[in-house]
Amino acid sequence: MIGYQFMGKAHSHAFRDLDFFFPGGASPVLKAIAGRAEAAVRDAANQYGFESYETDWRKLLERDDIDVIDIVTPNYLHAEMAIAAAEAGKHVICEKPMAMTVEEAIRMRDAVKKNGVTGLLCHNYRFAPAVQYAKQLIASGRLGRIYHIRAQYLQDWIMDPNFPLVWRLRKEVTGSGALGDIGAHILDLARFLVGEITELTATMETFIKTRPLGEMSGGLEARVDGSQTGTVDVDDATAILAHFDNGALGVFEATRFAGGNRNGNRFEINGERGSIRWDLENMNLLHVYLEDDEAGLQGFRTINCTETVHPFADRYWPAGHIIGYEHTFMNLFASYFESIVEGKPFQPDFDEGVRNERVLEAVETSAQKREWVAIPQE
Ligand SMILES: NC(=O)c1ccc[n+]([C@@H]2O[C@H](COP(=O)([O-])OP(=O)(O)OC[C@H]3O[C@@H](n4cnc5c(N)ncnc54)[C@H](O)[C@@H]3O)[C@@H](O)[C@H]2O)c1
Repeated sequence: MIGYQFMGKAHSHAFRDLDFFFPGGASPVLKAIAGRAEAAVRDAANQYGFESYETDWRKLLERDDIDVIDIVTPNYLHAEMAIAAAEAGKHVICEKPMAMTVEEAIRMRDAVKKNGVTGLLCHNYRFAPAVQYAKQLIASGRLGRIYHIRAQYLQDWIMDPNFPLVWRLRKEVTGSGALGDIGAHILDLARFLVGEITELTATMETFIKTRPLGEMSGGLEARVDGSQTGTVDVDDATAILAHFDNGALGVFEATRFAGGNRNGNRFEINGERGSIRWDLENMNLLHVYLEDDEAGLQGFRTINCTETVHPFADRYWPAGHIIGYEHTFMNLFASYFESIVEGKPFQPDFDEGVRNERVLEAVETSAQKREWVAIPQE
């Protein structure tokens, strides 16, 4: 693993619990974790249960006892680290957004293909049981032709103008702001559930243009470094209208200025025979409307996706005994490792990452040029 803060903790926890909840599956051995500051990375190794640590991530690539490299560092490092890992013959797990540009994402995809290893892009929300069940409902035709998806990813953790200019607010480190950080997730969910986006138009806004300097200190918290200030050169909020290849229409909003919304990752999908709604903050619940319900009883019903028929439910607790955020990572990694052992394709892989990156890049192009942008389909 390279990096050890927010996602470092989330991934390490999931790796440690796989053997417990997915016995008999491929269980990772936590060989080494890398970071730049020795004391901090040593503490992380101890807390997360890694056997050893390195202060130079390239040392991980030289080790024969390491098969998979997990990249949980800021976005500008993803391409360099993923390509080096693939060239060293390691499978690559990479956090989203995959890269800074489409060109970088293509080089990452080509590197894993050329070196015969796999690439996993960590769009963990696909692996919430309710989202997997929504996918089954749509794929089985239960909702009929899909007309709409409206999805929002709403946060509020940078609304204080004195919140510092952390790496997530600096273009050279993060690529884009709310778009790549949280918009990437809802666009990936839309592509997973509905289909490919063919054309879009978008607009972006930066509400607070200057902030004190500082750095992330864990999770979505930060500390101010001093009295100096810097310019915010990424979006605080992005809004998108999109057409899909199957004729559906999408409306998307990603913002970190939606006060009161701590982590509101939501979608509603309307088809000719029914609709579904989901919200991460109540992630076990899927709200389903079916048009063939009898008159008088029509309306959204609330399904707690913890019954044995629901994806992954049999791995955990009896019906109604809910699971949480960390289980999305466990479901994702258990499925990914199984695919490596069985030699089967798995999504979201780096091909999927390139497709999502094309959408992200088109959003920025559209916002800059103030026009509709077509997305190349592969
Ligand atoms: N899947 C999700 O839901 C989700 C959630 C949060 C973050 N992310 C993604 O995960 C990645 C990491 O985000 P985070 O929230 O964990 O960030 P963070 O700031 O909490 O942690 C970043 C880590 O990278 C390390 N790092 C930075 N530069 C480094 C370098 N040159 N060499 C080695 N290590 C270096 C830092 O020391 C730190 O441990 C980002 O790409 C982010 O977009 C994904």
